Amino acid sequence: MLAAYALGSLMGGLIVARLKGGVNLRASGSGNIGATNALRTQGKAFALAVLVIDVAKGVVAALLLPRLAGAAATPELAYACGAAAVLGHCYPLWHRFQGGKGVATVAGVFAALLPASFPWMLLAFVLVVLLTGTVSLATLAASAAALLHVACFSEQGLFSGAGAFTAAMALLVLVKHRANWARLRAGTEPRFERARLLGR
Ligand code: G3P
Repeated sequence: MLAAYALGSLMGGLIVARLKGGVNLRASGSGNIGATNALRTQGKAFALAVLVIDVAKGVVAALLLPRLAGAAATPELAYACGAAAVLGHCYPLWHRFQGGKGVATVAGVFAALLPASFPWMLLAFVLVVLLTGTVSLATLAASAAALLHVACFSEQGLFSGAGAFTAAMALLVLVKHRANWARLRAGTEPRFERARLLGR
């Protein structure tokens, strides 16, 4: 779990920014260092690179790191490692606990451990982002879809490692988007044009 936390603390946004010669994502757009703000301020290639790194951290933490525990590699340990990676992303030790909002890394853990729930989460995200252009709202919809799917349709149910992980991540995502909810209430949350999202 410590290795997963350390992995999660490697921030895609900061790595790509350094490779690109010192772009400062924190100083532009929403100030977040995730793929959304990278797309908003730096363009598609930059954002895609950030997204790949941040999603991969979740996949590796949930799928590969638990194997280091040998016979102790239970499903619960996999969720705990996934959660540790997300915490590392949101509160990275070596960036004075100033991290991102965790969404891409949560998505990576979901894709790895809950492949039946992941498409519903993704569908909710894509639909809301296309309808509203607002990624924070899409994130909220994806969290709700994940909770609903795990509670009602997954084999594990809400009272399981999967359920605890999903509920904890939904809560974390809500808390990490506090500034977005305030901007939404004030009507100042940035939106993407649908044409831009569709690459037209
Ligand atoms: O994953 C982060 C996204 O939901 C919001 O990002 O940059 O609009 O605050 P941003």
